[in-house]
Amino acid sequence: MDIYTRYKSLRQRTEDICRPLAIEDYVVQPIVDVSPPKWHLGHTTWFFETFILTPHVQGYQPFNPDYNYVFNSYYETIGNRVIRTDRGNLSRPTVDDIYRYRQHVDEAILKILSAPLEPEVSNLIVLGIHHEEQHQELLYTDIKYILGHNPLFPAYDVTYQPPTLKSTSTNDFIRIKEGLYEIGFKGDGFCFDNELGRHKAYLNEFEISNRLVSNAEYLEFINDGGYSDFRHWHAEGWDWVRNEKITAPLYWHFIDNSWYHYTFRGLEPIDLEASVRHVSYFEAYAYAAWKGLRLPTEFEWEVAAPSFTWGENWEWTESAYLPYPGFKKAPGAIGEYNGKFMVNQKVLRGASVVTSPGHSRLTYRNFFQTNLRWQFTGIRLAK
Ligand SMILES: [Fe+2]
Repeated sequence: MDIYTRYKSLRQRTEDICRPLAIEDYVVQPIVDVSPPKWHLGHTTWFFETFILTPHVQGYQPFNPDYNYVFNSYYETIGNRVIRTDRGNLSRPTVDDIYRYRQHVDEAILKILSAPLEPEVSNLIVLGIHHEEQHQELLYTDIKYILGHNPLFPAYDVTYQPPTLKSTSTNDFIRIKEGLYEIGFKGDGFCFDNELGRHKAYLNEFEISNRLVSNAEYLEFINDGGYSDFRHWHAEGWDWVRNEKITAPLYWHFIDNSWYHYTFRGLEPIDLEASVRHVSYFEAYAYAAWKGLRLPTEFEWEVAAPSFTWGENWEWTESAYLPYPGFKKAPGAIGEYNGKFMVNQKVLRGASVVTSPGHSRLTYRNFFQTNLRWQFTGIRLAK
């Protein structure tokens, strides 16, 4: 697909994700990690305006110079911004204003995409496309949180069906031989800076499950008192369980002696065969410890992944989010994209059913703090 068509369909898909929303759903921010849908719509547009149109297109007039303050996420280089917790307090710009902002920026980008481009500019547009794809997944996860924490449990779309993956029902462990393996991105296509540089890692022989832990299996952990036995948990994880009164994965509700969970279709009985989802790293670790097993490292995952089906849930790994040997931050504001987050987070590998089509890679490194679970996160065991 050429970049013109790709840009157009990307921008359309973002708006399609928001189509089932009521106007009020665009505005709220129930927790700091969840951004209002209208903020995602504006911020992804701001990215193209700030990094491509303003610096590289002569005579470009910003739609509204004040938007830089509202839609800058975390780029210190670009200046002051609304603090993250206040994103849900903005009744203006309105949703209509933001859709007009999108149109203004789209017209300008499509105009430059109709002529030959400097490689620097086309690389930035490709980065902007991958950035907006990341926000498409965040739109799904944030919309789920907003609707799933409304006491009426409104459906996002009663006909919603996730993409189906060919998965296996038998639980087998795949054995990988010890040896020296190459880790990190190789090739000519796009990757984020955190997937570089490619380097060698020595792995001891290990075994990894060919499928994710199911709801039925996780329920055994719950029923065995997993959440009330400190022995399975890290000290921090145990504090989290007690302080937050955690007794089950996010979106699970115990009603009339049965477990239900909130899905995009509304509240439904737990599907026992489906993989467990919306667990934190703390829970993934505790479950593995209760089983007498462990989580894979991100290096083990990358080496073994061609042998199993992945892409249903982001998979917690035992690896801290750290720079690879030879990792370099890009100069300027774009250098703030990944590098400054390489502290106190764990790597997740794979992709989820709400990851944008074509966005995932074997070498992709996602990362979140150990207590977070509003993303589509799951568990794969290793030993
Ligand atoms: Fe962003």
